[in-house]
Amino acid sequence: MNVADALRNRLSHASLDGVATMDLAEVHELVRLAQQAPSSFNIQFTRYIAVTDPELKTRLREVSINQAKITGAATVFVLLGDLEAHVPYAERMRGAAAAGHVPQATADYLVNAATQSYSVPARAREESARSVGLSGMALMLAAEERGWASCPMIGFDPNAYRTILGYDERYVALMVVAVGKPGAAAGARKPRLPVEAVLRVNGGGF
Ligand SMILES: Cc1cc2nc3c(=O)[nH]c(=O)nc-3n(C[C@H](O)[C@H](O)[C@H](O)COP(=O)(O)O)c2cc1C
Repeated sequence: MNVADALRNRLSHASLDGVATMDLAEVHELVRLAQQAPSSFNIQFTRYIAVTDPELKTRLREVSINQAKITGAATVFVLLGDLEAHVPYAERMRGAAAAGHVPQATADYLVNAATQSYSVPARAREESARSVGLSGMALMLAAEERGWASCPMIGFDPNAYRTILGYDERYVALMVVAVGKPGAAAGARKPRLPVEAVLRVNGGGF
């Protein structure tokens, strides 16, 4: 499947069958592919929690406005933004400089720039949202190519997710991607606005 086909075929499935399961190797492969998404400075703000356990899915559904796709999914991928991702990034860059992979001056410059930007909480949050969006799309396209149906979701309570899944305050759940096999309610491609309505070439007002 080429990228154009994956983009045209992907849709937010109305239901997932609740029968299909996903093995750990497949979970890893999907996340490995999602990780190919770009991020500012290659900081890699996105963290993934893959929920395959039926009991956990049931608990998550209860705090996801009872959306059946949560229990219908083979795997519920919870995409977290790391609001302090610049800290491990700095460690990584210092390590790379010490090992001679990156010139010290380059590492210092990148670490200073990234730290200045993302130690501001609002900017860290904004960048995390951008990164999780890109990771989520990469995950859905990879799933599409590999024969899975998916649905991105924001209809959930992030505080309850933290309680149920147990992750630190520095991480915030920004998107869920439910991945499984299509259920009975198929769902259809939704129309997009005409290009003329969303595009201006070389400026011009909206
Ligand atoms: C950030 C985001 C959050 C969404 N949240 C939900 C959701 O909670 N439940 C749901 O059924 N669909 C959800 N959707 C799916 C959208 O309704 C869907 O992407 C949109 O209608 C376009 O349809 P398509 O994805 O099939 O092209 C979400 C999509 C995005 C991008």
